[in-house]
Amino acid sequence: MKAVVYDRYGPPEVLRLEDVERPVPLDDEVLVRIRAAAVTRADCATREANRRSGLVVSLISRLISGFRRPKQRILGSELAGEVEAVGMAVTEFVPGDQVFGTSGFRFGAHAEFICMRQTGRIAQKPAGLSFEEAAAICDGGLNALWCLRQAGLRNGQRILVYGASGAIGTAAVQLAKYFGADVTAVCSSTSVELVRSLGADTVIDYTRDDFTENGQRYDVIFDAVGKHSFGRSKGSLERGGSYLATDGLRNLGLALWTSRIGDRKVVFKIPPRYTKQDVLFLKELIESGRYRAVVDRSYRFEDVVDAARYVETERKIGNVVLTFGGATPAGVLQR
Ligand SMILES: NC(=O)c1ccc[n+]([C@@H]2O[C@H](COP(=O)([O-])OP(=O)(O)OC[C@H]3O[C@@H](n4cnc5c(N)ncnc54)[C@H](OP(=O)(O)O)[C@@H]3O)[C@@H](O)[C@H]2O)c1
Repeated sequence: MKAVVYDRYGPPEVLRLEDVERPVPLDDEVLVRIRAAAVTRADCATREANRRSGLVVSLISRLISGFRRPKQRILGSELAGEVEAVGMAVTEFVPGDQVFGTSGFRFGAHAEFICMRQTGRIAQKPAGLSFEEAAAICDGGLNALWCLRQAGLRNGQRILVYGASGAIGTAAVQLAKYFGADVTAVCSSTSVELVRSLGADTVIDYTRDDFTENGQRYDVIFDAVGKHSFGRSKGSLERGGSYLATDGLRNLGLALWTSRIGDRKVVFKIPPRYTKQDVLFLKELIESGRYRAVVDRSYRFEDVVDAARYVETERKIGNVVLTFGGATPAGVLQR
C-alpha cells in the first residue's frame, strides 16, 4: 500500500510517499481502507519533534516518539474510510461499513490502510457525511470534549473560547453550547460569521477588541489555540474560575501551583484520554444536527507536504484533510 512516511524529524519536506506492507488485522481488529484523514497540529509537532516548543519539550517528544529517528514512520490519526476486512472475533463491523475514528498517538492514518481494534475509537460514519467531513470530526471534537470535561463546564456558566476558529476552537464553541453554557467566542474578523453560525452567543474580534478590557467575567476561559495566557486572562475570570489550556509547558507548572494556591486555577491535563464512547457521543451530536466538523481545505494524499505547510501556518480554520484514492478533493469545503 502507499503511505506517507518520514525517517527523520524536520520540516514538511521530510514527508514522502512510499510503498509499505499492508497491515493484516488481528482477530479483534478491522482493516480500514482510508478515504480521508486529517492533517493536524499534533502531526506537525510530532514530525518536527516539537522543536518549536523549546528544548525540554523537544527532548520529551523524542523520548516518546524515538530519540534519533521516529519509531512510527507514518503520521495521521483521525480518519474515515471503509472496512475492507475483519478479524475472526469482530462482531461490530462487517466489510463495506463506512467508519470514522482516531488511532490517537499510535498514528498510522496517512496511509491507504490501517488496522484498528473494534473496541478502539472507531464507529460507523454518521449518515449523510462525506469521508472528508467525517475525518475532521475527531481532532477538535475529542480534544475540546476532554478539555471541557476537565473544567467541569456546567449548564448556565459563562465560557470564553479564545481561538474559536481553530480545530479545537470550532468544536469547543459547539460543545459548550450543547453543555448549556453562555459562549463568548474570540477570533479574527475573517471567522466572525462562521463562529456565530456555530452557536456563539457573543463574538469578539480580537483585531478590534481586547476581551481582557471589556469588564466581563467568565467562569471558564478556554485558550483553545495556545496563544493567550493565565496571567493576561486572570482579571477576566470569576472567583473560582478556570483557565483551560491546550498547550505550553508553563501551564503544567501553573496547574500544579494554582490547584493549591489562589482562587482561580489553571486546568491542563495531558495527554488527553478519549474513548470509543466519546467518538459515539460526537456521532450522536452530528446525527441530531447539534455538531459539525468545520473543514477548511482538502488536499490530495500526494500533496501532503502542501497540506502540512498550511497547517503549520497556525491559521487554518477548523480542519485540513487529505483525500485518498485519486478523487479530486473539493478544495475549500464548508466553512
Ligand atoms: N493538549 C493536547 O493534547 C493537544 C492536542 C492537539 C492540539 N493541541 C494544541 O492545541 C492548540 C490548538 O490546536 P488546533 O489544531 O485547534 O489549532 P489550529 O486549528 O491550528 O488554530 C488555528 C486557528 O487559530 C487562530 N489564531 C491564530 N492566532 C491566533 C491568535 N493570536 N488569537 C486567536 N486566534 C488565533 C487562527 O485564525 P486567525 O489567524 O484568523 O486568528 C486559526 O483559525 C495548538 O496549540 C495545539 O498544539 C493540544
